[in-house]
Amino acid sequence: MEIRTIGVVGAGQMGGGIAHVAALAGFDVVLADVSRELVEKGLATITRNLDRQVSKGTVTAEAKGAALGRIRGEVGLAGLAGCEFGIEAIVEDLEVKTGVLGELDRLLAPGAVLASNTSSISITKLASVTSRPEHFIGMHFMNPVPVMQLIEVIRGLATSDETYRTVEALAKRLGKVPVEVNDYPGFVSNRVLMPMINEAVYTVYEGVGTPEAVDTVMKLGMNHPMGPLALADLIGLDTCLAIMRVLHEGLGDPKYRPCPLLVKMVDAGRLGRKSGRGFYAY
Ligand code: CAA
Ligand code: NAD
Repeated sequence: MEIRTIGVVGAGQMGGGIAHVAALAGFDVVLADVSRELVEKGLATITRNLDRQVSKGTVTAEAKGAALGRIRGEVGLAGLAGCEFGIEAIVEDLEVKTGVLGELDRLLAPGAVLASNTSSISITKLASVTSRPEHFIGMHFMNPVPVMQLIEVIRGLATSDETYRTVEALAKRLGKVPVEVNDYPGFVSNRVLMPMINEAVYTVYEGVGTPEAVDTVMKLGMNHPMGPLALADLIGLDTCLAIMRVLHEGLGDPKYRPCPLLVKMVDAGRLGRKSGRGFYAY
């Protein structure tokens, strides 16, 4: 099936980023969220990030205008009915995701590929609530989507070779590098990254260092572009905690237990950049 229109569910930082790169690559995009306010907020962020690229000279003003003209914001899922490709990028919560994926499965044409941008949840499990496990796949973009090159592509148990090839070709058309990995908790990216972030939170919890000290050690000592706590604030502490819980439950090893300080911060609503406060104030 030729992909003309890509449906993206969730207009948060990841869904907005996916809509941004898809529209720049020439696809029509339907971007859906639960309220008009959230859709408008997502569109405003895309405009701001495109403006940033125009001012850097990496995107022309004309390409920016054309990309924005290709994105249609929608409240609810009904607007995705005609899409040849669907990507789910909503909260990292199994129950919420399965509800939305079941509904999307009923809306999309039978041969259309349905992908999830989940950071950690089993693709096989998500596929099982749809009638199209062979056309279901993990397409894991990295944050910030317009900047990061990688897309981790995760096959569920039933994902067909044809579906894999469709996603591999789409990733390349978006200017990204696809890397195929298998379906285990956190895949490769978050199996490796998130325990490091969790350990950084432990060093603050145990008084080994301040957030500034921990981040400076990792930036200047290991040449990371940003420290692990600033990165946790960028990702969202709620998402970091959800990923640690999937690793802990799915792998059954106490080394993956989420740091109590991470739990407390999420309980307090300190989610990082998106709530205005996390390890740092924004
Ligand atoms: N949209 C578009 N462009 C953006 C952008 C955005 N949201 N944010 C930054 N940029 C662009 C800038 O325009 C700039 O472009 P040029 O190189 O062409 O000038 C470039 O990115 C660098 O931006 P800045 O100079 O403003 O900022 P920086 O040098 O401090 O870099 C950063 C910012 C790219 C975020 C960098 O700090 C970085 O790479 N951080 C690590 C990011 C990372 O690890 N991401 C993975 C997170 S884990 C994940 O995504 C998986 C998961 O499941 C949790
Ligand atoms: P976010 O909180 O910025 O955005 C999530 C959006 O989903 C919100 O706008 C919310 O209103 C919307 N949403 C929730 N329920 C919905 C529903 N039923 N229908 C439509 N929209 C709904 O989160 P995010 O950081 O964009 O993360 C989204 C997904 O991408 C998660 O699965 C996350 O694990 C994954 N991911 C996140 C990152 C990251 O760095 N933040 C990186 C890669 C993957």
